[in-house]
Amino acid sequence: MERTFDVLVIGSGAAGLSAALNIAPHLKVGVLAKGGISAGSTAWAQGGIAAVLEPGDTFESHIEDTMIAGAGLNDRRSVEFVVENAPAAIERLAELGVPFNKGESERWHLTREGGHSHRRIVHVADATGRAVQQALEKAATEHSNITLIPNMAAIDLVTGRHAVHASSEKRVRGVYAVDAQGGGVSLFTARATILATGGASRAWLYSTNPRGSTGDGIAMAWRAGCRVSNMEFSQFHPTCLHNVEVKNFLITEAMRGEGGQLKIPGSGHRFMPDFDPRAELAPRDIVARAIDHELKRLGLDFVHLDISHRDPSFVRSHFPTIAERLAQPDIGIDIAREPIPVVPAAHYTCGGVVVDLHGRTDVPGLYAAGEVTQSGLHGANRLASNSVLECLVFGLAAARHINDHWDEVAPPPAIRPWDESRVTHSDEEVVVHHNWREIRRFMWDYVGIVRTTKRLERALNRVELLRQETEEYYGHFRVTPDLVELRNLVEVSGLIVRCALTRQESRGLHYTLDYPEMLPEAVDTMLVP
Ligand code: FAD
Ligand code: SIN
Repeated sequence: MERTFDVLVIGSGAAGLSAALNIAPHLKVGVLAKGGISAGSTAWAQGGIAAVLEPGDTFESHIEDTMIAGAGLNDRRSVEFVVENAPAAIERLAELGVPFNKGESERWHLTREGGHSHRRIVHVADATGRAVQQALEKAATEHSNITLIPNMAAIDLVTGRHAVHASSEKRVRGVYAVDAQGGGVSLFTARATILATGGASRAWLYSTNPRGSTGDGIAMAWRAGCRVSNMEFSQFHPTCLHNVEVKNFLITEAMRGEGGQLKIPGSGHRFMPDFDPRAELAPRDIVARAIDHELKRLGLDFVHLDISHRDPSFVRSHFPTIAERLAQPDIGIDIAREPIPVVPAAHYTCGGVVVDLHGRTDVPGLYAAGEVTQSGLHGANRLASNSVLECLVFGLAAARHINDHWDEVAPPPAIRPWDESRVTHSDEEVVVHHNWREIRRFMWDYVGIVRTTKRLERALNRVELLRQETEEYYGHFRVTPDLVELRNLVEVSGLIVRCALTRQESRGLHYTLDYPEMLPEAVDTMLVP
């Protein structure tokens, strides 16, 4: 089957839907999601969105905090662009109906998170992402120019080599995508394509992310000829719930912003002041490394996050979603009275597809926005709550550029349908699941919070083995969404390890025992296909 839109958006989170809503007044947009429309990371965001919104705070301060967290690797133009456009982005969400918590005297209640020198995080209690996703999704559903297409996993970008009259032209003309429910591959064509596929944190065994965070957009863009940068900077969130049954439940950083303390179980020693004068509100890389250090030093499975010294009604009203979830019988913790066992887990991909301030990638016809990108905003470590903001600002920027340059792009030529003539149904689907598990295990063991060259080389050897196996499998068997994800996980893990081996220093989120010092000059790691 072939479907044609003016613009194709791959991904239905904050970045994809922001872009779609800003294109739709002029053009017809198709939005693909590989699972449910709300199944990306956006709906899981807890803490909030950062913006300068009250007297006393300044753009300069938000910019400086972002650059300090990013260990000087940020592109200042991108930081300024995002920070200065943040208040308008929040205003647009409010207009769409996002019910940000009200302040006592100010318009909105602003909370605080690590690395921010000012209270500047707007939020909807501790479930901000859910409210943002719902508002964007409602507006998109109601727009007659937007078609939402769930359960459609993009396999690869379509370029000149897929045309009926094949050419070496790199311009992107759409995607091939496999139907996650019915099977079968469709062709989607468009004059412009926006990648908004989110990050790759499910490359690790323990992650705060939904299962779809497999770096599909990064891998597809790389295969289509885009540069990929700074993939070594994988952010580990310091406080993921530690529970044998319940995996990947985040305990928001805002809990530390409101006084939560990190303690050693048993002794109750509050250890963060031993590591950094900002204690629990130091940037995430520092807090995650401190926890990792204490876990290894004392042979612990977890540390405690404790907010039980605050008034119980304050705790329950500020963190209702977390309080309710942890109170359920499978966990059984009353957060207003008991400490929460936590560990760091893979949370955010700071690197990605290189884009400019219009969201343009290296390849004509292809834009990208959100966690899939390396826009220069985050540098070596993302400042808390700058991510949804980046999605909103760059989603709009890409939309504007497409609208403004629409008449310059010709419609796509005739493209060949997906060819399945040389493949059969797999007789060994289990291989895909085994390989998934293997990647996530060795990425956790060898490409974690503290790295060494030897461990990274071990990881690279394993990536290469899995790459051979996966490509062979891909060449012989019918494509499924699981296979799409495995192929992309292998690709992206290779990019992460190669970037990590290239950086011979410790900076931000990349800490290696072989090069513990930071070099005087901050330089992006750039992989060129
Ligand atoms: P996502 O929202 O992840 O959406 C990706 C979309 O791409 C999905 O629709 C998915 O189906 C689709 N997709 C992926 N691959 C394919 C494919 N092959 N084919 C078709 N579709 C595909 N950030 C903040 O700023 N503040 C917070 O408080 C905050 N809290 C967080 C809490 C948690 C638990 C997590 C996991 C993240 C949090 N973040 C937070 C980070 C933030 O939520 C994400 O970085 C951001 O929402 C990413 O948005 P996105 O639009 O780029 O991607
Ligand atoms: C959190 O609520 O701790 C997540 C915030 C973020 O990732 O920006």
